[in-house]
Amino acid sequence: MPTIPDINATILKPLLHTAFIGRTLVSEFELASTNITANELAAANAPEGLVVIADHQSAGRGRNGRSWLSPHAQNLYFSILLRPSCPPAAVPQLSILTALSITKAIALPGIAVKWPNDVWLNGRKLCGILSAMSCMANQTEYAIIGIGINVNMREFPEDIPGTSLARETDREFSRAEVLSSVLNAIEEDYSLWKHNQTLAPFMERWASCSLLDGRSITAEHGRTTLQGTACGITPDGLLKLNCPDGVIRLIAAGDTHIIL
Ligand code: BTN
Repeated sequence: MPTIPDINATILKPLLHTAFIGRTLVSEFELASTNITANELAAANAPEGLVVIADHQSAGRGRNGRSWLSPHAQNLYFSILLRPSCPPAAVPQLSILTALSITKAIALPGIAVKWPNDVWLNGRKLCGILSAMSCMANQTEYAIIGIGINVNMREFPEDIPGTSLARETDREFSRAEVLSSVLNAIEEDYSLWKHNQTLAPFMERWASCSLLDGRSITAEHGRTTLQGTACGITPDGLLKLNCPDGVIRLIAAGDTHIIL
């Protein structure tokens, strides 16, 4: 059984155009979850831009306590450490921004963002993002952006409406090339975002690739489920839901589902 990871600094660095994202790289054959390792390294003062990647995760985590399928070396499982100097309330914007950066990097027809931070391709989920943060008083110490992108996996369990780049295009992709394009796009967008810490400069891009806008959806958060028509997001990343009583409600977090 090989224990050397497929992606390493020698392969990745020539593909990067970044100043800091991916310049510190921890690449492992197997980790429980790249988010856990990135969090440990962040707490031990790792620099902004650290990327932790694993060929396989034995306990990959998804949103809302779900697990994340992480078969060996088929997809990308990685986490990025950011140290934005912003209030903790602004950090969820980073996941939304990351979803947008991924659509820019992948740039295939049929690519879309699904609020809050999924990337879908041709109506199925391609990528999930799970972020975490550490804060002190009202200041953010760091944020971990954990990203899973289905790259070359072709078979999905029936109960998972997932897809991959290979499944949609019928060709294999270089995981290192996909990773580097995504890291390049994230650094470009994050560098713009961190000047004013708002999604305002990205609103047009969001509208141009939003899966939910104009659709009838449900938004679930905890025990609350709201129904309405999605009508965009606010510059601070809240979902705007036009409810049957005519009121536009702002949703801060939750799972969304299209009503077919
Ligand atoms: C979701 O449920 O949509 C979020 C999935 C996030 C998966 C990624 S894979 C890399 C990082 N490590 C994890 O354990 N989860 C995230």
